[in-house]
Amino acid sequence: MLRESGYEVIVGSSEEPYEPGELAELVAGADAIVALLIDRIDEAVLEAAGPQLKDVANFAVGYDNVDLTAAARRGVKVSNTPEVLTQAVAEHTFALILAVARRIVEGDRIVRELRFRRWGPNFLVGMELRGKTLAVVGPGRIGEAAAQIAEGGFGMTVERVRRGDDLVSVLARADVVSLHVPLAPETHHLIGAKELRTMKPSAILVNTARGPVVDEAALVAALRAGEIAGAGLDVFEHEPDLTEGLLELENVVFAPHAASATNEARTAMSRLAAQNVIAALEGRPLPTEVGQPE
Ligand code: GLV
Repeated sequence: MLRESGYEVIVGSSEEPYEPGELAELVAGADAIVALLIDRIDEAVLEAAGPQLKDVANFAVGYDNVDLTAAARRGVKVSNTPEVLTQAVAEHTFALILAVARRIVEGDRIVRELRFRRWGPNFLVGMELRGKTLAVVGPGRIGEAAAQIAEGGFGMTVERVRRGDDLVSVLARADVVSLHVPLAPETHHLIGAKELRTMKPSAILVNTARGPVVDEAALVAALRAGEIAGAGLDVFEHEPDLTEGLLELENVVFAPHAASATNEARTAMSRLAAQNVIAALEGRPLPTEVGQPE
C-alpha cells in the first residue's frame, strides 16, 4: 500500500530483534517508521531518524516499546493497530483457556508419544467452563470481546476488573483469570505472589497481554505449590526467554506471542499501519493515533 502510494519503502533485513545501533542506522532519514513490538523506539532511535520523522506506526495494539514522551517532545506522532486484531486475540485467549482447562496439549503429547492405551473414567479429566467465573482484568476492546465469548458462547459469569477495582477480591472468586491490560509502570507485576496465593487452587491464569504483567518466578512457584491449577501463556516476562522452571510444568500451555496471528488480523494491521503513515505524511489526522503521555 505504501509503495502503491508512491513512497519509498525500506524493509529491515529480518524479523530478528536488532542489535543496539542497527535500528538507528536503518531509520536514518526516514519520514515514518513502521515498528514491530520487538523494536525499541527510544530517544536514540528517534534522534537517529532525524527531524523530518513524522510518525512511528507501531504494528501492534500495545505500544510499550515506544517512548511516547520522547516522541511527543519531538512532535512525532505514534499510532497503533487497535480493533483489527481484537477478535483474533479474544479467540486465542479462549484457545488457551480451553487448552489448559481440557488439557489438550497434555493429551496431544500422550498420543504422539504412543502412551495412549485406553479410555478411562479418570483419564485426563479437566474443568468445564459453563457456570464458571471469568475475571477479565482490563476490560478494554480485547477484554470485552473475550467477555462476550465467555458469556455468549460458554455461559460463564464475567467479572470485569477495572483500574481501581479490588483485584484481589475478584481473584478469590474467579475460576479463570484473563489479563488484558497494557504494560505500564502500574501494571508491571500486577499478578505476583500475593495475587496468585489469593486465587483458587482450581483456577487458571491466562496472559495474552504482556509478559511483565505477571511476576513469572512467582507464577512458577505458585504452579509448583498447587496454589493455582494451570496457566496459558502467550507472552513472557523475559520474552523470548523463559523463566527457569516454567518448561518443566505440565499444567502450562505456551504460545509464542501469536494471539493476533490470523491472516485476517495481520492483513488488516498492515493496512492500518500504512494508512497511519500516509495520513501523517499528508498532514491529515491519523486514523489511530495513540494518546499523548499523561
Ligand atoms: C501484540 O502483542 C500487540 O500488541 O498487538
